[in-house]
Amino acid sequence: MNKRISNLLIGSLFSAGLLSIASHTAATTTVEVYKSPTCGCCAKWVDHMRDHGFTVKTHDVGNKEIRKKSGISSSLGSCHTALVNGYAIEGHVPAPDIIRLLKEKPKAVGLAVPDMPHGTPGMEGARSDPYNVLLITEPDQERKDTKIYKRYDPHAQQAKQSQPAHVEPQQTGSVMRLK
Ligand code: CU
Ligand code: CU
Repeated sequence: MNKRISNLLIGSLFSAGLLSIASHTAATTTVEVYKSPTCGCCAKWVDHMRDHGFTVKTHDVGNKEIRKKSGISSSLGSCHTALVNGYAIEGHVPAPDIIRLLKEKPKAVGLAVPDMPHGTPGMEGARSDPYNVLLITEPDQERKDTKIYKRYDPHAQQAKQSQPAHVEPQQTGSVMRLK
C-alpha cells in the first residue's frame, strides 16, 4: 500500500476511535435529575442531556432537599439538581460543560447556572441573555465565591457575526474618487 494512503487510513481510524471514546463517555453515564413533576423547562433540559448521549433518570420529588444534601447553597439555586459521577449539577448547565467536567475531573462539588437565564439549554426562546456556568469548589459555597467555568455571551457572538466578511480595499493614488 502507498505510504501516504496508509498514513491517511491510520489517521482516520485514530480520529474515529477518539470520537467513539468521546460519545462512549456520555452514553454510559447516568444522570439522576431531581425536579418538580410539572416543570416544563426541566423536561426540556432532560431532553438536551439525552440528545448529548447521557442516560437520564428523573425523580419528580423537587430539588430543594437534594440540593442542600449535595452541598449547593441556595444562592446558586435553580429549578432542578442533577447528580452525575459524584458531581452535582444545578440548573440549566449546557451538556458540553458537563462532558468537560467529567473529562477534567477537578476537585469540586460541581457546576451551577443559578436562576433560569433565558437562552440556556431548556430555556430557549426569543430572548438570550449572557450567563456564566459556575464551578463550585467547596461544599455550601456562596455564589460570589465560585469560579467562572464558562461564560456564554450571545451578544458578543452577534457583534462578531455582524462584522463585514469582506472590507473594500482603500483606493490609492490617482484613482481615488470623491464620494
Ligand atoms: Cu428551569
Ligand atoms: Cu429545571
